[in-house]
Amino acid sequence: MSRLTNKHIILAITGGIAAYKSAELVRLLIKAGAQVEVVMTSGATAFITPLTLQALSGNPVHQHLLNPKAEAGMGHIQLARWADLLLIAPASANVMARLAQGQADDLLTTLCLATDAPVLLAPAMNQAMWRDPATQSNLTTLLARGIQIHGPAEGEQACGDTGAGRMLEPSELLTTVKAQFDQGLLAGKTLVITAGPTREAIDPVRYISNHSSGKMGYALAQAARDQGATVTLISGPTHLAKPDDIKFVAVESAQDMLEASLNVGHSADYFIAAAAVADYRPIIASQEKLKKLNADDRLSLDLVQNPDILATMAKQHPQTICIGFAAETENLILNGQTKLGRKGVHMIIANDVSNTDIGFNSDNNQVSLITSNGVEELPLLSKQQLARRLIVAITNTSHKA
Ligand code: C5P
Repeated sequence: MSRLTNKHIILAITGGIAAYKSAELVRLLIKAGAQVEVVMTSGATAFITPLTLQALSGNPVHQHLLNPKAEAGMGHIQLARWADLLLIAPASANVMARLAQGQADDLLTTLCLATDAPVLLAPAMNQAMWRDPATQSNLTTLLARGIQIHGPAEGEQACGDTGAGRMLEPSELLTTVKAQFDQGLLAGKTLVITAGPTREAIDPVRYISNHSSGKMGYALAQAARDQGATVTLISGPTHLAKPDDIKFVAVESAQDMLEASLNVGHSADYFIAAAAVADYRPIIASQEKLKKLNADDRLSLDLVQNPDILATMAKQHPQTICIGFAAETENLILNGQTKLGRKGVHMIIANDVSNTDIGFNSDNNQVSLITSNGVEELPLLSKQQLARRLIVAITNTSHKA
């Protein structure tokens, strides 16, 4: 039996080109065992026909608030009570504004006010509309009210622009919906985890990087998923397989990783920085392959410091519980405690990398958990066992240094 068997899902579609993806989402939800009622705004019907959604969901589509025929069947209050979850996908800038205002002038906005079920939004709009201060202010209002926002993703848009504004893919939204019905410690929570190394380009074929395998970050992503969280894994290049049922963002450089983190960070309950971020990058990445110099000549690279992703996230998202790692060769606890305060985070997971049996490329790790409450030493564990212990410890963390 699937986690969605017999769950009552309202899928609401608003006006946007991404509405065509909602047809696939209905199919995936039904296949996973859910009962789906589709609500469409008048804008949505300009992009996809109610008949398509009726055929896929097996139920007539709800479109009007004050339709005597519809109210004689499942009226809007009954529909609001029936729902275990209300997902708006795509959610337009317009519906975000109307929800932020608390309006109830059509079926969808009325349902959002009337339901006790969790309301999830998957925004989709032009990148400039998403970035606009009005939309960002509406986003803050909706998040403060406990409405969950998933996405938008970055990338090429139907209008030809590139940026944040694409609706998450139907398969990613299915994962998000499933996670809402998990019973684990992190059920309904959203985690963003960075993992692996970063690559800082010197020229088109060379880069600065490190030996991080990504194993710890990937193990944490799996452990968090197993506890019911919706997980986004932002990973530098590794040889590991992408874990199932998580959102995966592949990045190369520290700057890409920062951008991806900020992009999804607004909806994160927890941010765990397990990546080994290169501290420096070449000021200029040469467009052409650098040529070998004469034997006596020296080549020097001018490096500039990379942004601190963890510290930036902690500063920009004070409501997110931020956790970092500290790989130290000496004064483990003291250096970890300093990092806790300097980066303004809730927990530092410190490990001694002078011991080659643990950390970095190894399958095992032994760490100390440093919080404002003190230090807890964990035993030597496999990275999978450790990840499970860490996820439990993380759920008990709520105070900054
Ligand atoms: O300052 P240091 O590199 O020792 O801090 C390690 C922690 O900070 C790790 O959690 C790492 O993922 C994070 N970090 C980061 N951005 C950087 C450097 C480190 O997020 N530029």
